[in-house]
Amino acid sequence: MTKTTPTVLVTRRLPSAVLDQLAQSCAVDLHAGTDDLPHDALCARVHGKDGLICMFNDRIDASVMDAGDSLRVIATVAVGFDNIDVEAATARGIVVTNTPDILTGATAELTWALILSVTRRVGEADRAVRSGAWAGWTFDFMLGSELRGKQLGIVGAGRIGRAVGAVASAFGMRTVFAAKPGVTGNAPSDEEVVSLDELLLTSDVVSLHLPLNPSTRHLINRRTLARMKRSACLINTSRGPVVDEEALAWALDERLIAGAGLDVFEDEPHVHPSLLTRENVCLTPHIGSATRETRGAMAGLAVRNVVDVLGGRGALTPVNG
Ligand code: GLV
Repeated sequence: MTKTTPTVLVTRRLPSAVLDQLAQSCAVDLHAGTDDLPHDALCARVHGKDGLICMFNDRIDASVMDAGDSLRVIATVAVGFDNIDVEAATARGIVVTNTPDILTGATAELTWALILSVTRRVGEADRAVRSGAWAGWTFDFMLGSELRGKQLGIVGAGRIGRAVGAVASAFGMRTVFAAKPGVTGNAPSDEEVVSLDELLLTSDVVSLHLPLNPSTRHLINRRTLARMKRSACLINTSRGPVVDEEALAWALDERLIAGAGLDVFEDEPHVHPSLLTRENVCLTPHIGSATRETRGAMAGLAVRNVVDVLGGRGALTPVNG
């Protein structure tokens, strides 16, 4: 490689075909461990790099950008970019990119997996069989609740929220959307839009599809949880801090809601201890986009963005213009 070959730090192992593609035009410094790259190590390794490919859980603040004073592009392998100080990047002329669209289907699928797991008690039933607690078929063992005729309330009518809503009619559900300030996307049609308050009061399943920002942090709190039907469940496949986990544990303890399906948490990988012990809560480890197809496509798009920017072309999916 010549001296002018751009260098790129990659904070997590990506599929080898994608890394090979990056290596065709860039020198790659790969953090190959399965652990997070600690912030000070990230700052040390980003020094002198032209590009950075990071994950949603790498904190990319101004100190990383100051350490990486040659950076021209930061590409996150995620749709959410709340971990990146985009304003600081813009001020330094650094292009920030994300991976929208390609993970919509996978995340919508996982959302439905959680909805069905909670309403039909799939996790609890699996545990009962494995532990020997199933003594034989009885008429009223593990009764769940049915989706047909119920209302799905989607908070956040962006791509993923709409993809989740598109499936609801197949289960005989009606769908309402609550669009909030600071939330991207518009609801598909006016008659399906209700206030957040009305959505919480009337929905049987409330599903969150919001970016994390100051206006959505702890949007679901003691007050909003108390608005929900006692028979309703809460699903979150967006960002953990949209839900005040302490308040959720309280609402479940007080039986203010019937259950929850959570793929994301306030302080990953830590989960509120009371949620861990509850049978009416289904927990998955932030796997919304975790299909072979989608993760490969996300990595490919991040690499494409880096190669394009470092090659003097525009990024395909920039978040800062
Ligand atoms: C994952 O959480 C993402 O934002 O893509």
